[in-house]
Amino acid sequence: MKLNITGIAGSLRSGSYNRAALRAAAELCPEEVEIQMVNLRDIPSYNEDRESNPPESVGELKRAIRACDAVLFATPEYNYSIPGVLKNAIDWASRPYGDSAWDDKPAAIMGASIGPIGTARAQYHLRQILSYLNMYAINKPEVLIANAAEKFDEQGHLIDQDTRDYIEALVMALVSWTERLKKAELITY
Ligand code: FNR
Repeated sequence: MKLNITGIAGSLRSGSYNRAALRAAAELCPEEVEIQMVNLRDIPSYNEDRESNPPESVGELKRAIRACDAVLFATPEYNYSIPGVLKNAIDWASRPYGDSAWDDKPAAIMGASIGPIGTARAQYHLRQILSYLNMYAINKPEVLIANAAEKFDEQGHLIDQDTRDYIEALVMALVSWTERLKKAELITY
């Protein structure tokens, strides 16, 4: 049976390294795994007044999360944290209270930055958020893509072999973790 992973990049930038890292993950994953990316472009700013009648883009996001077996985040680091666009989407899909799409989902985190720290600080903020959302985030391997401009070519292909290996290992760890949770019937979708 195919394992479906939803890939979410916290960047709307057309040349985003984080979106490119997710594309690389989709190429590197085994045949029985599919990574489908969602785009956060159409998600408006969160407004509690709209919770009871959310925009269609939010419904789509929640359906994609609910339908998948696991979530793979690729987050940029903005001012030492995750970008607002990612937090905004996380907030929307966590509401209304009691109807969060994130609950019980296995997850993995990676991130790409043009700086030397490779999104470590943002990843720890994201990990903290996932704990509140009751997601099961794997701890290792950590994939911190530093100095991203040197690791992708101008078309957004990941050209750094070590980074390709790290991403492949992360996807395999997420697949194995998800299968273990399913086998133990700790998750039932
Ligand atoms: C950044 N960038 C950045 N990089 C970093 O390593 N630590 C940081 O705290 C920040 N802060 C930051 C704030 C804002 C508002 C922007 C726009 C950028 C640089 C960031 O790593 C770079 O723009 C990446 O290319 C963003 O990821 P995408 O869009 O390529 O996926």
